[in-house]
Amino acid sequence: MNILVIGSSNTDMTALVPSIPGPGETVVGSGYRVTLGGKGANQAVACARQGARVTFITALGNDSLAQDHLASFKKEGIDTSFIARKPVHTGVALIFVDQNGENSIGVAAGANDMLSPSDIDAADGCFREGDILLLQLEIPSETVLYAARKAKERKMKVILNPAPVRNIPRELFSCTDIITPNRHELAALGIAPEKLFEMGTEYLITTLGAEGVKLVSSGESYIVPAYKVRPVDTVGAGDCFNGAFAASLAMGYDIRASLERAVAAAAIAVTKEGAQAAMPTARETELFIQNNSI
Ligand code: ATP
Ligand code: RIB
Repeated sequence: MNILVIGSSNTDMTALVPSIPGPGETVVGSGYRVTLGGKGANQAVACARQGARVTFITALGNDSLAQDHLASFKKEGIDTSFIARKPVHTGVALIFVDQNGENSIGVAAGANDMLSPSDIDAADGCFREGDILLLQLEIPSETVLYAARKAKERKMKVILNPAPVRNIPRELFSCTDIITPNRHELAALGIAPEKLFEMGTEYLITTLGAEGVKLVSSGESYIVPAYKVRPVDTVGAGDCFNGAFAASLAMGYDIRASLERAVAAAAIAVTKEGAQAAMPTARETELFIQNNSI
């Protein structure tokens, strides 16, 4: 089973500060780093490091930042054949990380905002029955819906990570098999679980940060607790969770085992700096599960 990830790529410019600045406030810290990020790209890398076969559709700009992304995707073994290039800047995320590993992020979307349904059509052959489509909301919602519709027509399994949360067409829920909001995103979506199930979504999986993850379907509900770790940088925790979860499903694990692997992978990720840099391999994840208990 292959995974098709469609979403954003950003260059993350991160300042390490004692506390996250509020409106009108300047906070002086000392650390700074430039790393590869973007929710789509992070999830594609997380899937690939877990050993899944991944094709990534994204839009990059006409600047040197784009080259860094392309080189990295290739190094990760990700199929880059359908990456679009746009005559604007590559997406940039300005990130503050505080002493507790908490973060705040502002994104200049650039090329991500230009990923269009015609870019999806250019990759028509990637929509194959039985494969997984993994989506987030950091690209235009019309493109997300277009891809989800196509995937449903082709009998793919669609996983939607509704981040960053925004107003989305209701039809998207009926094209989604598994939806993975965090707590805030779930509240902002403004839809009851029963309504989601009525519209065709099979599983609602809510990530709960240090408390783990909750699965609800029409027939069951349970929590998979998080591992107790000391977080260094939680940027990309949700992306790691989503990527590792999709990869585990693609590799044949059932839903509960996939959640357990994803929770372990995300626990590793929060103990490392950066987004893509922090994504663990399948081997690291398995060793972590062997050596730690929840
Ligand atoms: P982010 O926006 O920071 O990438 P998110 O808000 O999308 O993350 P979270 O619910 O914070 O998602 O985290 C996703 C998963 O990562 C959680 O379900 C959990 O398994 C793991 N995780 C996050 N924070 C911690 C933590 N402090 N300790 C252990 N595991 C964590
Ligand atoms: O989810 C984390 C990501 O959100 C960062 O890598 C940043 O690029 C923003 O898109």
